[in-house]
This record gives sequence, C-alpha cells and structure tokens, in this order.
Amino acid sequence: MTIIDGKATAATIRAEIKNSVEELKAAGGRAPHLVAVIVGHDGGSEAYVASKARACSEVGFESTVLRFDEDITEEELLREVQRLNDDDGVDGFIVQLPLPRHIDANRVIEAIDPSKDVDGFHPVNVGKMAIGLPCFVSATPAGIVELLRRYGIKTRGKQCVVLGRSNIVGKPIATLLMQKADPGNATVTVCHSATPDIPEITRHADIIISALGVPGYVTADMVKDDAVVIDVGTTRVADPTAKNGSRLCGDVDFENVAPKCSYITPVPGGVGPMTIVSLLRNTLQASLHRQGK
Ligand code: GUN
Repeated sequence: MTIIDGKATAATIRAEIKNSVEELKAAGGRAPHLVAVIVGHDGGSEAYVASKARACSEVGFESTVLRFDEDITEEELLREVQRLNDDDGVDGFIVQLPLPRHIDANRVIEAIDPSKDVDGFHPVNVGKMAIGLPCFVSATPAGIVELLRRYGIKTRGKQCVVLGRSNIVGKPIATLLMQKADPGNATVTVCHSATPDIPEITRHADIIISALGVPGYVTADMVKDDAVVIDVGTTRVADPTAKNGSRLCGDVDFENVAPKCSYITPVPGGVGPMTIVSLLRNTLQASLHRQGK
C-alpha cells in the first residue's frame, strides 16, 4: 500500500513553476499576476485566499486580493469583473465562492473572460473540457489527474467510481477520466444522492474518487482489494485534542480502508495541497499565452 503524498508532489510542482517563472523573466517577460476577489467575510474563503496569496509569492507570481463588502451589488461586482477582464496586467483571476445570497454566482462566472478564468468555472472552459479541447480545468480535478499521472497509476480500461456530482469536482473528474487521454480511458460510474446501493457499485471499482463531504462514508467493506482510493472530502470536525479545536476529516475511513488499497490519499496532505498548485499552473499558462511566450 502506498500513501500518495500530495504535499510533497505539490512542493515539487511549485519548484517547477518557480523555474518557469524565472525562465519567463530571463526571456524579458513579467511575473504572472493572479487576482483573487473576495466578497464579505466568510472564514473559509479568507483562509483559502490567504493560502493562494502565499503560494503565489512562493513561486514568484504577483498576486492581489480585492476585498469587497458583503453588501456590494451584483452590478457593482460585474463591473469589477469587467475591469479585471480589461486589465492587461492581470493574467488570471478568481472570484472566491460562495458569494452572498443576493448575488447570482452563475452570472458573475459567466462575466469572466474565459482566457482569464483560471478556476475553469466558465461554461466555455467546462464545455471545452467536455469535448477534449485545451482549456483551464478546475483546480481539484486537475490536481487529482496530476497525482494519478505522477504516481504512474494506470486508468486505461479501469472501472472508476466517482462519489458526488458537484460542478467543481464530481462532474469534471468523471469527464476527465472518461476522455480518450492518459490519464483517462476509464469506464466511469458517477454515484449521487439518488443512487441505490452505492456499496454494491464501489465494490467493483478499481479506482474510487470520493467527493461527498461526508466524513468516514467510504468504509472497508465498500472497497475491493488493491483498489486506488482518492479522498476529496475536507469536512472540519470538532476535535478537543487538536491545536485549534478542530481537524479536517476525509470521506474515507482511512485507518480501515488503507490496508486494502494499492494507493490511497490521506486527509490532510493528499488532494488538498494539489488544488492550489493547479491554480498556479493555470495562471502560469494564462500568463505565457498573454505574453505570447
Ligand atoms: N471556494 C472553494 N473552493 C473554491 C475554488 O476553487 N475557487 C473559488 N473561486 N471558490 C472556491
């Protein structure tokens, strides 16, 4: 059994990105610039955006955080998006979700220039991914594919079961793994809240990717011997023994599932660290393209 080390893999990729930035600058280019837009004071969003800014400075990117009050109107936010679309000094930007209820997140996402949509959330990027064209792929599924690639995990001809059908993980990872590509070429089943007898389905899986957000959902009896298990769950649960009173909990009962697996990702330290690295890769790509490199 191999525990997939997302933290180490992400550090390797950050070093590769840093090298590319140095090469870009040596060739007369400028550092890639990522902007994060944050509305209101959601604790989770603040933490995400802070770690994105930290990752940017580590690889030599310029980064800007634009903060707006909770009561910004949709029209005002759309104007900010337009301003970022038009700003030649911005290579890519993200609007941190969730947005306050009075703002239609889909309208905001659709206003982003697809060539700056490094989150890969715009319908143009989602559509291109679905038909196998080059595009920005959203960070978590891109990170999972990169882990499979770097660990040499074969997906061709495998039975892959995805738990969850969210727009940011379940649907895109299912799409990517069924593509005529490597990694890809898998036979993919997507299970969701209306799927009966999920354990009967997962027991046939060579690869299980769980993105439900239900701590401990995947138990040992649901996993066949030598399966590959990728845990995308990151639910914060109370833990009085932890430093800050809580800890991150995956979807997988790691202790009992891990001994059966050929490969498994831990939580934390598996898929999570790869997510921000994928955003950096997308931003580097956007910047190279914008600078004609
Ligand atoms: N909120 C949680 N994850 C993400 C993400 O990857 N991108 C954005 N924009 N918002 C998020």
